[in-house]
Amino acid sequence: MRVVIEHVCKTFEDGSGGKTEALRDINLTNEENEFLVVVGPSGCGKSTLLNIVAGLLPATSGKVIFEGIPDLSKPFTSVVFQEFALFPWRTVEKNIMYGPEERGLPKNEREDIARHFIDMVGLKGFEKRYPHQLSGGMKQRVSIARALANDPWLLLMDEPFSALDAQTRTIMQGELSQIYEKTHKSVLYITHNIQEAVFLGDRVAVLSRRPGRVESVISIDLPRPREENIVLAPEFLSYAEEIWGHIRDQAKSALSE
Ligand SMILES: Nc1ncnc2c1ncn2[C@@H]1O[C@H](COP(=O)(O)OP(=O)(O)O)[C@@H](O)[C@H]1O
Ligand SMILES: [Mg+2]
Repeated sequence: MRVVIEHVCKTFEDGSGGKTEALRDINLTNEENEFLVVVGPSGCGKSTLLNIVAGLLPATSGKVIFEGIPDLSKPFTSVVFQEFALFPWRTVEKNIMYGPEERGLPKNEREDIARHFIDMVGLKGFEKRYPHQLSGGMKQRVSIARALANDPWLLLMDEPFSALDAQTRTIMQGELSQIYEKTHKSVLYITHNIQEAVFLGDRVAVLSRRPGRVESVISIDLPRPREENIVLAPEFLSYAEEIWGHIRDQAKSALSE
């Protein structure tokens, strides 16, 4: 399965004729089982792009094509948002079972799925807790487990760790990398954090500032599984520097306007 984003443009119009061009001619392919990261300055259209791929927002022109999907009974995408978008009235396990319930899977199958992903994201023992009884990091683990339990073809993640403190974020990045090793799902991951992009990505697409265009796409040729200390490797730093180079030029021209 691959996802082809073809000539996608998005212009927002307010009621009184004001226009915001958010995305201009985006062409990008999420290859089968690829962890693709989109990085760019805030306001450059990253969430807009993710919402278009998720089918939550229509493109003004262009299209998103899901190629080679053999089984239409599973959802194309599931999203993990920055804010912890959990159902507050449902326990951890009931949050995770939501997708399988919607798909009408039998109870024992739903329970197996929930158990499997609770294990994978390290939430064993917290099944009966409610979201307000969890830390930010744990809430995001539930969000990830809930998205995976939907068994989508493509996992969409919009800055899922940016509301977490720096230490928790580092831990969650490592855990997400391990989860990716286990599931090998296609992922489209949005961030403004360069080190996160290099740590997680197979490829990193750099968006320009608004209107967002694909400035460059960089293949991250670092071995997997990636350990936390890889951030100290010279190769890691040179990728980060390359990406920062693209973003810095954008930021500088923004300042001089
Ligand atoms: N629903 C909307 N209506 C009007 N403008 C919007 C809407 N959503 C986003 N925008 C504008 O589009 C641009 C890109 O926004 P967004 O995709 O949220 O950026 P990012 O996620 O990269 O920070 C911003 O200028 C934002 O103000
Ligand atoms: Mg955003």
